[in-house]
Amino acid sequence: MVAQRLLAEGVGTLKAAGIDGAARDARWLLAHALGIGRDRLALALADPVTQAQQSQFRQAIAARARHQPVAQIIGKRLFWGRSFQVTPDVLDPRPETETLIDCALKKPFSSVLDLGTGSGAILLSLLAERAQAVGVGADLSPKALAVARRNAEGLGLAVRAEFVQSDWFDGVSGTFDLIVSNPPYIAAPDYAVLDPEVRDWEPRMALVPEDCDGSGLASYRAIISQAPEHLTRGGWLLVEIGLGQGADVLALTTQAGMANGQVIPDMTGRGRVVIAQVV
Ligand SMILES: C[S@@+](CC[C@H](N)C(=O)[O-])C[C@H]1O[C@@H](n2cnc3c(N)ncnc32)[C@H](O)[C@@H]1O
Repeated sequence: MVAQRLLAEGVGTLKAAGIDGAARDARWLLAHALGIGRDRLALALADPVTQAQQSQFRQAIAARARHQPVAQIIGKRLFWGRSFQVTPDVLDPRPETETLIDCALKKPFSSVLDLGTGSGAILLSLLAERAQAVGVGADLSPKALAVARRNAEGLGLAVRAEFVQSDWFDGVSGTFDLIVSNPPYIAAPDYAVLDPEVRDWEPRMALVPEDCDGSGLASYRAIISQAPEHLTRGGWLLVEIGLGQGADVLALTTQAGMANGQVIPDMTGRGRVVIAQVV
């Protein structure tokens, strides 16, 4: 069988399963099965595929038809120009989180704390861009921390990155020039209506905070109230926020005695990151 026919079979299976972007995803999964970059696939479509490649591709298509995200199936995601291992134990790093990286890199820092580090995508991207910096990644999930440690090893950053199991600041000591976080911020009532790719395949604890009121703000309350005591003077807190949470999160930074608070928009103009400083 040639690759083109296998691809058509995969697209048909995904369309029948109601997957948005069936053709795009099938091409991605075929390139992975063939062990080539997506940009090389067009050149390989007339080539025969081995039994092993067919079998790997069909298994991947079956997983995608069950709505498993592509990044989990192929086990990796490109974030801020680097490849991160992704498993069902971590949030698949989102392109919109690159807004937080962009903001953080505009601040001076030689030490950084990433709360809810997940795959380590934020912490490791920042350390990779600042050759002298050191950092700590904290997460409540030991399985997520195992993925983050593997990513640190893979990117050659393990000597500058420490990982700790911690309920926000509970297991963290010392002060940092920068505290960053993309915490769970989905309001409990919104969880049920998420896409199955997210709701059924990503860890619930990465998405929904333990709110008493279901507002999605519990993580911010915990993080922002304690951030000033863990920041060096002049240091910045940067948190990613969900839709419409800017004013509430900004108010929390003021209540915590922080200054220079701002809501930073992403490329679409939507408020995406709240920053505030300890002065
Ligand atoms: C939205 S994910 C962010 C993952 C990663 N930083 C990223 O941006 O791709 C939130 C992370 O917070 C972690 N988390 C949830 N509750 C926590 C808590 N109380 N203390 C520390 N980490 C927590 C989850 O395990 C998850 O890894």
